[in-house]
Amino acid sequence: MILKSKLVFAALVAALSVGAAHAQQPIVIKFSHVVAEDTPKGKGALKFKELCETRTKGRVKVEVYPNSQLFKDGEEMQMLQLGNVQMLAPSVSKFGPLGAREFEVFDLPYIFDDAKDLHNVTQGKIGQQLFKKLDSKGIIGLAYWDNGFKQMSSNKPLRTPADFRGQKLRIQSSKVLDGSMRALGATPQVMAFSEVYQALQTGVVDGNENTPSNIYTQKMHEVQKYLTMSNHGVVEYAVIVNKKFWEGLPADVRGILEGAMKEATAFTNDIAQKQNDEAMEKMKASGKIQVITLTADEKKAWKKAMLKVHRDNEATIGKEMIQEIYKETGFDPNSL
Ligand code: LMR
Repeated sequence: MILKSKLVFAALVAALSVGAAHAQQPIVIKFSHVVAEDTPKGKGALKFKELCETRTKGRVKVEVYPNSQLFKDGEEMQMLQLGNVQMLAPSVSKFGPLGAREFEVFDLPYIFDDAKDLHNVTQGKIGQQLFKKLDSKGIIGLAYWDNGFKQMSSNKPLRTPADFRGQKLRIQSSKVLDGSMRALGATPQVMAFSEVYQALQTGVVDGNENTPSNIYTQKMHEVQKYLTMSNHGVVEYAVIVNKKFWEGLPADVRGILEGAMKEATAFTNDIAQKQNDEAMEKMKASGKIQVITLTADEKKAWKKAMLKVHRDNEATIGKEMIQEIYKETGFDPNSL
């Protein structure tokens, strides 16, 4: 009898300690991205980590992998679907290969004038409609994070569409971006972000479009002679998670993470412009790259040349969606 109760007691202790050990195992979120830490997205990811870890008192651990340390673009989406990484924040220009080309609506040249235009779309109905397209792919869209407006770098001054002839320019994997470069007269080349610096350095490509914060933190300005302030498009991110993982989280934990994401989003979108302004200042101060400001007429010539991209992509993006964005942003194709 005594032996039996001793055995029961020992079994109970063992079960409790296994349970305790189990309870102590944190839920790990691997958050992979391709840019430097000192960028809007890099800082946003760290803010999310800090908020999650303090608010869940360590129940959740967010491992942030910047600079394509874990996966580079081109492979990270598939890794998310397979559950090898739980969270990403790819640029919306990278959803085409996933079969969600509608996200390329953000790439239409000159469709946004400023962050307000952009937020009307990301924080409204259209932003949510786009996220719904991810559901069938085992992905949930949590938030949109800003980087900023893209500028054009090269070793040749790019002022007019005629200057683009013969230029090979790196783009992300978006058909709209492909069409945009061709509309300007350049040859686009799709390439992973992690490979751009070397491609510019060795002359595999002549130039690239990107935000000042990305150009500066990747040191692209050290291997490019000119930066044209064209503001012809945006780099915008969709923060996405593996659906099975997210829906499998305990409801209270998921609630805390949703709150943390909301705050990290406000934080990121708040610092984005400042980060890009600072990067511009640093590049100018470096004396390594010459900044070109376009005249109003030059800018108009870029817009005119690129407008056909809007029409050319109506079938794949959806005419209705494009028209809805025009309404939100006040973009008038007939004004050109
Ligand atoms: C790029 O690939 O050019 C950028 O979108 C990278 C990033 O995530 O900002």
